[in-house]
Amino acid sequence: MCFAGNTDLGLSSYSTRMIASVQPSFYIREIPIYGDLILSPMDGFSDQPFRVLCREHGSAMSYTEFTNIDAIQHDAWKALRQLRHASSEKPQFSMQIFGSDVDRFVEAALKCEALGASIVDVNMGCSVACVSSRGAGAGLLREPQKIAEIFRRVSNALHIPVTGKIRLGWDDGSLNYMEVAQAIEDNGGQAVAIHGRTKAQLYKGEARWAPIAEVKRAVKIPVIGNGDVRTVADIARIKAETGCDAVMIGRAAIGNPWIFSQLDRHEVTLDDTLALMRRHLQLMLEFYDEHGLVLFRKHAVKYLLGHPYSATLRNQLMTCERVEEFLALLDDYSQRREYYAAEAA
Ligand SMILES: Cc1cc2nc3c(=O)[nH]c(=O)nc-3n(C[C@H](O)[C@H](O)[C@H](O)COP(=O)(O)O)c2cc1C
Repeated sequence: MCFAGNTDLGLSSYSTRMIASVQPSFYIREIPIYGDLILSPMDGFSDQPFRVLCREHGSAMSYTEFTNIDAIQHDAWKALRQLRHASSEKPQFSMQIFGSDVDRFVEAALKCEALGASIVDVNMGCSVACVSSRGAGAGLLREPQKIAEIFRRVSNALHIPVTGKIRLGWDDGSLNYMEVAQAIEDNGGQAVAIHGRTKAQLYKGEARWAPIAEVKRAVKIPVIGNGDVRTVADIARIKAETGCDAVMIGRAAIGNPWIFSQLDRHEVTLDDTLALMRRHLQLMLEFYDEHGLVLFRKHAVKYLLGHPYSATLRNQLMTCERVEEFLALLDDYSQRREYYAAEAA
């Protein structure tokens, strides 16, 4: 049986030194946030192993994958596993929850606090139909009054800060990000992360950053900008264009946690990539037992993207079922690199 609690995987001494040597970039209420790059909550990706790796590489905070308030109430094992965390992630550690019923939000948030959350984040951005059409995730954006009530009730009930993650609105005909951000702030919310798309856009088109700048000018709580930050240059650009307090990075961090150290994918050597893959796999096996290998595959293919002649290896890894074989394939690829380089020349 899984339980939510502290499992200490430890941050590297590099991260510890880094944290000790800098001033907080901003605060979420009383919680100091050291640095202004943050791994996005991502269902299926931002689990404890990946969060810990990203923190080691410079991500300033941890958000869990979004977790259903009803599943939390029912102690569903998968929900409790999603909420597990390393003590080293605290106090910059947020449990993200989603749902639509206000009373249940309060109950689930109280449970998150009891399970060790330092922050509770309300998901108002999930665009998946089975979530948003039921009034949860981005579905909440259609009910700003309810958002106000959720923040008022949850922040009154909890000792820890409550934050929110939103999109720009349901669709282009209902862009209510200003009203929603204001409702969050006016009702006790302590930070707002904004993905610059509407629910109707899903992940299509370009994320719009101008609305993030608008919200930043209007509210006093920290504003975290998000959407289509793919490179180190994008980090500088979204900061300059929005004035946001921090930048949240999702898809571009998969296979490249070094983006939190301001390194683009092509700047990372194959040796460093393979070393991190081995460590990530080890953390996955510790966290998920033998199922960790299967769950690691989707990360593995992303780590290898762009590395020469890695297509065959990626295919082999996707079907590989034994850890020893998986590691041997990585070793073999590493040893053959000179041969590949000679062939390419
Ligand atoms: C696979 C995947 C899972 C996601 N799961 C969540 C989630 O659990 N909670 C959430 O707030 N956003 C979730 N998102 C949205 C991201 O947090 C982020 O807002 C979005 O991907 C835009 O940022 P990006 O362009 O940096 O990826 C998810 C996105 C992806 C691609």
